[in-house]
Amino acid sequence: MKKKTIEKTPFLFSYAAPGCMAGVLCACILTLLCIPAAGWALPHKSVNGLEWSCGDTNTNGKKILVAFDSKHGSTQKAARLISEELCGCGFQVDMSYARYVDDISGYDAVVAGSPIYWATFLPGIKQFLKKHETTLAQMPVAFFALSTHVDEETGLVKEETKSFFVDKELAKHPSITYVGEIGIFGGEFTLRDLYPVEVFSMTLSKYSDQAWFNPSMIQTWAQSLCDLLDD
Ligand SMILES: Cc1cc2nc3c(=O)[nH]c(=O)nc-3n(C[C@H](O)[C@H](O)[C@H](O)COP(=O)(O)O)c2cc1C
Repeated sequence: MKKKTIEKTPFLFSYAAPGCMAGVLCACILTLLCIPAAGWALPHKSVNGLEWSCGDTNTNGKKILVAFDSKHGSTQKAARLISEELCGCGFQVDMSYARYVDDISGYDAVVAGSPIYWATFLPGIKQFLKKHETTLAQMPVAFFALSTHVDEETGLVKEETKSFFVDKELAKHPSITYVGEIGIFGGEFTLRDLYPVEVFSMTLSKYSDQAWFNPSMIQTWAQSLCDLLDD
């Protein structure tokens, strides 16, 4: 009797192949869109981990670390303004992405800051607070956050941002205490610079380009820290 041979079609030429490939392609595209939107896209790392330093000539001044995270640059801009003010007060300041800080034991005080995204801090700052909690608990620490509109007249939005988003995150590390007021500042974004998922969500929320960033509010807050961080 003649044996019946069943010819196997190679997978690549089978009907299932295009479907599988389309699935893999979609998964890749979704990952590429979602990872940066969630704040996991890593900023570039400068050679020694520091973004900027000032106050080299303040040789008797205390050493302050300004540790921040930022996705679209406004919190980095705020960190720079704060650093400049603190150097003006006589401190030596290093400014660094929080995620790249390995050791804070060489500093006398820390100023940390994050923007609010999707009602929480960016991962770099969350990791920083967790990783250095024990050391931070033993030194003066100040904190600032950038957010949507901050109403300077009534302070209402500022209070909401603080109680809804900032206090909730800071409460996860109760051993860290903060000097002065927590700085809550207006941020900024332009739809053109956002990741696709962000554009989609901000457009759904009926946001257009926003510019609440107010340098003088940030500088005034930094000035108020000069005595507090020197104690
Ligand atoms: C996609 C997206 C989500 C945001 N979510 C919030 C939020 O939940 N609460 C808030 O107060 N601000 C929110 N903001 C405002 C940002 O905190 C503000 O634009 C900030 O300046 C961004 O900081 P960066 O430029 O350092 O990344 C959001 C902004 C974007 C673009």
